[in-house]
Amino acid sequence: MDKLFINGGNKLYGKISVNGAKNALLPVLAGVIMVDGMVTLKKVPKYSDVLAMCEILSNLGAKVNWHGSDLIIDSSTIEEHTITSQLAGSLRSSIFALGPLLCRHKIAKVAYPGGCEIGLRPIDIHLNGLRVMGTRIVEKNGYIYANGESMEGCDVTLSFASVGATENIMMAGVMTRGITRIFNPAKEPEIVDLQDFLNACGAKVSGAGTNMIYIEGVESLHGCIYEVIPDRIAGGTYLLMCAMCGGEIEIENFLPYHNQALLSKFSQSACKIDIKDDRIFVSSSGRLDSFIDVETAVYPGLPTDLQPQIMALQTVSNGYCLVVENLFESRFKHVPELIKMGADIKFRSNVCVIKGKEKLYGADVNSPDLRGGIALVMAGMKAEGYTTISGIELIDRGYYQIEKKLAPLGVDIKRIEK
Ligand code: EPZ
Repeated sequence: MDKLFINGGNKLYGKISVNGAKNALLPVLAGVIMVDGMVTLKKVPKYSDVLAMCEILSNLGAKVNWHGSDLIIDSSTIEEHTITSQLAGSLRSSIFALGPLLCRHKIAKVAYPGGCEIGLRPIDIHLNGLRVMGTRIVEKNGYIYANGESMEGCDVTLSFASVGATENIMMAGVMTRGITRIFNPAKEPEIVDLQDFLNACGAKVSGAGTNMIYIEGVESLHGCIYEVIPDRIAGGTYLLMCAMCGGEIEIENFLPYHNQALLSKFSQSACKIDIKDDRIFVSSSGRLDSFIDVETAVYPGLPTDLQPQIMALQTVSNGYCLVVENLFESRFKHVPELIKMGADIKFRSNVCVIKGKEKLYGADVNSPDLRGGIALVMAGMKAEGYTTISGIELIDRGYYQIEKKLAPLGVDIKRIEK
């Protein structure tokens, strides 16, 4: 397995551009299952999760081709309705295919999803919503058997504003007779992006990003050309890297209104952030005051996907910081790894108290999941000495060739291929 090798201590200078959003691309690729035609997605980074979704589409019968960074999918040839455990188990977004498969085939057999091990990650909200719409679901032998012949548009209220469940049920309504209204939906920008993609294919969806999503079922969807929004989590990660390491960088393709909660944390900070349309300029000494408290929440609150990266910054900030992780019950696996590098962190259940230190020290650490892994990259960039990070296939899920992305900023980082 590959490793990353980082010689820390350099400040960052230069320009970095944010790629398309992983968590927008994955539901869009699930939505492609409903399309009877050709979809071209522009400027698609080859995140390993994107490649995994492409493999699922190919196994269903779609023709998947790359033309440079453009992904071209002819889904008119999709005949299959089964997603095996080997494919489904490789990522969380395989479950997003359930709604689209029911729209296309009225029947689906999908194995339980995988994904970063940050909690139990049940799928009850997905399945309950589909049942309310009339889907008959049997769970056995690790598979979900679903029959959507009697599905009807109706009102669906989510018990929790789950991102994936919102996307799954939204897509289930797209080609289901009647009107489906989703109450208490998640409001993430990636859901608005999914709505825009589906409508570009002829769907009739509105209200994404608000308290109620309204879907009028249509007979079919046609192909389209589409480019997803920039990855707000990657953009936030690069901002936090500069805040932590010091220096001056420009981040292109950064939409400030997608990152308001993070930007507000820097409003009183010595880390200066200038916003110009879809780019920001970050300037930091590399030694900042602590944020005092950090609580993750559903959008537009502070994203759980930035919690590990914010925690990395707090380990070398001035003072104490309380971090509360409200979305996932096991999203502190990066903490023991940061402690190996000299961080002072006490944790219980979903709460951490971090005492900022002057320095971190290079060590051999292991990436526990995607965002925990990038937090360790940040710590290695800041630390004195050498850091080796294993398990980086988890980082490749959501950051494409991260070493090539960071090196031009002055980071001394190499990928060691095993
Ligand atoms: C999406 O996961 C993202 N993944 C996650 O990003 C992100 O952390 C999460 O939303 C929250 O923003 C993709 O979009 C591919 P949820 P998802 O359903 O849909 C519980 C990353 O690093 N829940 O909003 O799985 C669940 O256990 C990844 O890019 C149920 O109980 O998140 C969790 O505690 C990590 N039952 C909470 O809801 C359900 O049926 C939020 O989960 C579904 C969810």
